[in-house]
Amino acid sequence: MTKIVGIFGDPIGHTLSPVMHNAAFRALGLDWVYVPARVRPADLAAALRGMRAMGWGGVNLTIPHKERAMRLVDRASRAARLTGAVNTIVITPRGLAGHNTDGSGYVAALREELDLDPRGKRVVILGAGGAARGIGVALLEAGVSQFTILNRTPARAASLARHFRKGFKQAQIVSGGLARQRASKTFADADLLVNATAVGMGGTAHRGLPLQALPKRAVVSDIVYRPFRTPLLEAASGHGLRTQGGLGMLLQQGAEAFTLWTGQPAPVDIMRRALRRALSRAGPG
Ligand SMILES: NC(=O)c1ccc[n+]([C@@H]2O[C@H](COP(=O)([O-])OP(=O)(O)OC[C@H]3O[C@@H](n4cnc5c(N)ncnc54)[C@H](OP(=O)(O)O)[C@@H]3O)[C@@H](O)[C@H]2O)c1
Repeated sequence: MTKIVGIFGDPIGHTLSPVMHNAAFRALGLDWVYVPARVRPADLAAALRGMRAMGWGGVNLTIPHKERAMRLVDRASRAARLTGAVNTIVITPRGLAGHNTDGSGYVAALREELDLDPRGKRVVILGAGGAARGIGVALLEAGVSQFTILNRTPARAASLARHFRKGFKQAQIVSGGLARQRASKTFADADLLVNATAVGMGGTAHRGLPLQALPKRAVVSDIVYRPFRTPLLEAASGHGLRTQGGLGMLLQQGAEAFTLWTGQPAPVDIMRRALRRALSRAGPG
């Protein structure tokens, strides 16, 4: 009668989610197991029907399934609707319930690790992809006053800003390219800089980012967690700024999914230790 949950993605080999959830199930003595499955895009609907037929508790979804799943769930949470993506599905008697815990997980990590309340803060986010979208929804829901999206492809940033302006009237939402001049003006009064691009993975770095323009009170947050300390975080520390890595977001989005499935508070410290161990075993790659 072991209850099964898991994660569907393609590729799926590098996911750390099984490690943290299985550690949590063991710690709480729950007869549950979390399994990764490679599911090709064309098979997502069949895989969701199959897990429902087999009595699974639910699944997480990762690249490339999050947007597609919106059309396959029976109902979606407000965060999932605003983000346009589902990362957690719970099987209920009324069908598949879609949630998005990525953005709320990010904000929970800000609160937990840095005691930072986003209300009234001025935020600059680098990137306009799926992660930036989820984080943007959660930060705007939490009441940030100014939200600037800077992206390598400025048209994508502009399109995301238009989307956010429709749902969030209280904040000033602007967009632009990553060009140095524009960034340095925007950085000057930022409280929080978030890297939500793929830059940082494998130790890569943004070139010419004017970190020196950030005020001393600013926090620099990078959602990339491989390596654990990205070049951006090292550079920000060098400027005397407070920093936050991407592990907290991974942990907190998982903790929220855990509670959605089991109805129990997640053993966050145990999950964090399991993630840290797995990351140090995996090395910086
Ligand atoms: N900590 C966590 O739990 C967590 C969760 C989700 C994602 N992540 C991390 O977040 C990153 C982004 O994920 P995503 O799902 O948003 O991906 P995505 O939808 O593919 O978006 C990628 C973003 O990165 C930008 N980008 C890619 N290469 C770049 C480069 N060389 N220079 C400048 N910008 C570049 C893209 O800009 P263009 O629009 O110009 O292409 C786009 O804004 C991933 O690398 C992942 O490691 C972490």
